Amino acid sequence: MPVSGPPVATSLPVGSDADLAWVRQRIRQTAAGLGFGLVQQTKLVTAASELARNTLVHGGGGHVEITPVTRDTTRGLRLSFVDSGPGIRDVELALTDGHTSGGGLGLGLSGARRLVHEFELDTGPGRGTTVTVVAWTADVPAARSGE
Ligand SMILES: Nc1ncnc2c1ncn2[C@@H]1O[C@H](COP(=O)(O)OP(=O)(O)OP(=O)(O)O)[C@@H](O)[C@H]1O
Ligand SMILES: [Mg+2]
Repeated sequence: MPVSGPPVATSLPVGSDADLAWVRQRIRQTAAGLGFGLVQQTKLVTAASELARNTLVHGGGGHVEITPVTRDTTRGLRLSFVDSGPGIRDVELALTDGHTSGGGLGLGLSGARRLVHEFELDTGPGRGTTVTVVAWTADVPAARSGE
């Protein structure tokens, strides 16, 4: 029996409020298992909660992929929120604090971005939306030159 194998991605549906609750729970469990502290878990779950809600409300539902990742000796968690909804026409505007196309606060996307280490938006009109975030168990200084 293998003691450890390659990190396995888990895919969970995001199609209802009940799915959102389960997604939050699974992400917290997975993060805790990887060694995320309580504050780090809460940051990641808060970001995930906003992104999953966008997948449901704006994207018409989709799924989330949960993948443990490592860089050098640091462990992290990558989350991809995927929908095939209308997509986002103006990404910069959507990421502006307070911008909402509906009755929200417009703080979901921008807030989520601040709560994770890496944030990537792949979207466009008619292309659906994929938001991928990565959080690490420790802050790894990025390689810098001349600083
Ligand atoms: N998955 C998505 N598909 C299509 N549009 C999206 C998606 N996610 C976000 N958007 C667009 O980006 C805007 C900003 O998203 P954000 O989460 O910041 O605000 P919100 O969902 O309107 O309000 P809230 O503060 O309640 O989250 C949304 O109003 C919506 O127009
Ligand atoms: Mg939102």
